[in-house]
Amino acid sequence: MTRLRVLTPDDLPACVRLASDRGWPEEPEKWAFLLRVGTGFGLFDGDELVGTAIVTRFGDEHAAVSMVLVASSHGGRGLGRRVVEHALEFAGTPVVSLHATSYGKPLYEKLGFRSVGVVTAHVGAFGGTAAGTSRPAEEADRAELVAVDAEVFGADRSAMWDELFRFASQVRVADDGFVAAWRNGPLTMVGPVVAPSAVRAAELVADVAAGATARVDVRDPALGAWLEAHGVLPRFTADLMVRGAFSGDRARLYAPVMQALG
Ligand SMILES: CC(C)(COP(=O)(O)OP(=O)(O)OC[C@H]1O[C@@H](n2cnc3c(N)ncnc32)[C@H](O)[C@@H]1OP(=O)(O)O)[C@@H](O)C(=O)NCCC(=O)NCCS
Repeated sequence: MTRLRVLTPDDLPACVRLASDRGWPEEPEKWAFLLRVGTGFGLFDGDELVGTAIVTRFGDEHAAVSMVLVASSHGGRGLGRRVVEHALEFAGTPVVSLHATSYGKPLYEKLGFRSVGVVTAHVGAFGGTAAGTSRPAEEADRAELVAVDAEVFGADRSAMWDELFRFASQVRVADDGFVAAWRNGPLTMVGPVVAPSAVRAAELVADVAAGATARVDVRDPALGAWLEAHGVLPRFTADLMVRGAFSGDRARLYAPVMQALG
């Protein structure tokens, strides 16, 4: 008999172990960030954590679901469905988005999600140089940045941004967009990238990726080709899935903060 409860920071080591069990990288900082900006649910078999999902709500309209995992020892018994159904009920928003692996996709389709695009994760030592078309965000830039993010993403993510301004290693702004980066072990994770074109998105990426081993998750083929030409190579894909309908000017969103935030 498994029981479900809210995850706390004390559960972080068990979350990381569960991810490793499924061949996912150990990402303790990312888990900790996601548990700060959202609510995690764990399924426990006795004291053992055997299933997880995290919900991040962006106001009353939109939520993202992430970190859906079931221990390999407990797969195929309905636990994945149970934890995701609980997460959706908790979210209670008309729009829910997530990035799905091929393992999760059939479950999400059964729960009413549809794929709206494929994201390719690019990883590698960035071989380019900074374009120098952005500058570090200052306190005075924050309100406008968060407002533009809401316009592009289609939901007010100000509470998430309060944490992201602390968590990010870099947040840079330009006249026509912005870019952030955060550390995930050895990787500089680039996102979000908000720009009016793929060319401008590439310039913003260059400003945070210069000298780093970077990961950027992109849907735009031109940006993907540019990354590949600069040593940041396609590694795996995920489906961007949504239940309900996206709003926002998503054409300007060239990379998510992280797949876990929809
Ligand atoms: C994805 C995952 C969480 C599913 O957990 P699980 O406990 O094995 O899933 P369930 O037993 O609840 O099955 C979920 C549903 O998907 C269905 N399903 C699973 N694989 C399927 C496939 N290839 N084709 C069609 N349906 C499939 C099951 O039949 C079940 O449907 P039902 O509830 O109507 O009977 C688990 O496999 C896992 O942790 N995988 C590795 C991590 C991962 O990729 N997570 C997804 C991140 S997006």
